[in-house]
Amino acid sequence: MRSLVTRPLGDPLHADLLALAQEAARRAGDLLRDGRPADLTVAATKSSPIDVVTEMDIAAEKLITDLISGRRPDDGFLGEEGASSEGTSGIRWVIDPLDGTVNYLYGLPTWAVSIAAEQDGETVVGVVAAPMRGETYHAVRGAGAWATGAWEGERELTCRPAPPLDQALVSTGFNYVAEVRTHQAEIAAKLIPLLRDIRRSGSAAVDLCDVAAGRLDGYYERGLNAWDYGAGDLIAREAGALTGGRPGQPLSRDLTVAATPGIFEPLQQLLDDHGAWHD
Ligand code: IPD
Ligand code: CA
Ligand code: CA
Repeated sequence: MRSLVTRPLGDPLHADLLALAQEAARRAGDLLRDGRPADLTVAATKSSPIDVVTEMDIAAEKLITDLISGRRPDDGFLGEEGASSEGTSGIRWVIDPLDGTVNYLYGLPTWAVSIAAEQDGETVVGVVAAPMRGETYHAVRGAGAWATGAWEGERELTCRPAPPLDQALVSTGFNYVAEVRTHQAEIAAKLIPLLRDIRRSGSAAVDLCDVAAGRLDGYYERGLNAWDYGAGDLIAREAGALTGGRPGQPLSRDLTVAATPGIFEPLQQLLDDHGAWHD
């Protein structure tokens, strides 16, 4: 990261969407950080017995959707905990109210609120708040990626210069479905001797922002949903990283890859060679 002054945002609508996303992420982050019950338990499970949701995931999504729909009643929503509506304004909000739920459940600090705004299907604003780090990352299409934290003002995010692939620090994640995570572990075992090391933070949104901030050389994962990568993908791209799926394809549920240029294509190829996108 380097200290700079924020670039002006070209489109006033994008400035409004950014301010609203930042307010919603800050309020939800405060709720999650300050309102976490000491005896927090699992409220329900989703794709598998280890894919959990807590009352706090649900409360955070409600706070975000109530705030945004109160200000912008014609917008659509896609939220992990069920928010789903079409809208008529051309703007859709893609929300993961708590990315890193298992970390949050256990009291580990790596979790985030992730909010993206799409305009006519393209992400134009992304905000990821990581309250236990005291940092929030944001990007507006064409205006760079920025972070606020314990320092004064905003810092522009830039991904780091690429090392040789065998010296790259790369993060990944594991799906909640047993067969998928078994396959992912097999791929990770094959990649470890070919890279500097592998990290598993427990939050895809934080991983993508860490690529943006130059704290990782790359990140990949199979099986993500739009709410996991919506904001982080824009933040990584605006920081100069490249993102995609299999070689020549956009990022998707099949495969998400984000890396500093120079690492991106070799990593994407390595993953494809090892069949990281399927079982
Ligand atoms: C999960 C986290 C995790 C990733 C999983 C995601 P959740 O999101 O981002 O790092 O490996 O694939 O589902 O369930 O904590 O919102
Ligand atoms: Ca998530
Ligand atoms: Ca979540």
